[in-house]
Amino acid sequence: MLSYRHAYHAGNHADVIKHLTMALIFQAMHKKAKPFAYIDTHSGGVDYDLLSDEAVKTGEAYQGILRVMDHPALPAPYRDLLHQYNGSTDNNIALYPGSPAIGHHFQRDGDKLYLMELHNNETSTLKRKASRWADTAIHHRDGFEGLPAIVPPEPRRGLVLMDPSYEIKTDYNKAYQSINAAYKRWPTGIFALWYPVLIADKSQMMLDSFERSGIRRILMAEISRDAQEDESFGMIGSGMMIINPPYQLDEQLSDCLPALAKALLGDTAVANVRWLVGE
Ligand SMILES: C[S@@+](CC[C@H](N)C(=O)[O-])C[C@H]1O[C@@H](n2cnc3c(N)ncnc32)[C@H](O)[C@@H]1O
Repeated sequence: MLSYRHAYHAGNHADVIKHLTMALIFQAMHKKAKPFAYIDTHSGGVDYDLLSDEAVKTGEAYQGILRVMDHPALPAPYRDLLHQYNGSTDNNIALYPGSPAIGHHFQRDGDKLYLMELHNNETSTLKRKASRWADTAIHHRDGFEGLPAIVPPEPRRGLVLMDPSYEIKTDYNKAYQSINAAYKRWPTGIFALWYPVLIADKSQMMLDSFERSGIRRILMAEISRDAQEDESFGMIGSGMMIINPPYQLDEQLSDCLPALAKALLGDTAVANVRWLVGE
């Protein structure tokens, strides 16, 4: 039984690092005219009303995106998409685009989206909002098992976002197994995996597995607060692990994340951008 609903968390600090990284990757992919595929293994419900009861109840967007909309370190392609999504340059945005909406925002003629979601209600929302998008396939299925089954995609160039809620402890190992199997079938794909940084760090074992996997060119970028200041059930930050990142993504993330980490998570927060495995 899945109980996680992204509406309570949309626009929080984890979404900010995840979605700004996506925007930078899509911006880099736009440098070539060749079409790309975007595969979203855990899509959620497309977009989120930041004035909804769910969003107001947790207030996470107020501690997240709404805190940094006017921060100079926020990468321009991410801020621009938030403005365009809201049809305004007002930084007080009300509608927050999730990962499928970001994929759609950067979709050009010939680019293809593959959106997977397991939860019945979220899949209904996804179908209602995305079924009219061009070149978009929606799969009501388990994204861990779906990813290796559909790669290499058509077109062959592309980005995968894997964004599990890690509600179930086995998600950590499933994320590793799924990406490892998909990479073997599609070694040129870009694979981006979001993970929580926890006090009892379950993500570390997953990262260790990737480090030992034989896969090359794995970048990781994390923001986290001092564990002493934890108020959020052990989640002290979050990170993105990116296999085959575009040229200079490491520098772009190193430029923006230190200042954003402090703005989002407090003065003691730090960013850590490093190659888990190099060339
Ligand atoms: C963190 S949310 C996704 C948020 C979305 N990627 C975004 O950035 O806007 C995780 C989603 O994964 C869904 N989910 C959980 N387990 C899944 C699985 N095994 N396969 C596909 N979707 C799953 C949940 O229902 C939830 O909607």
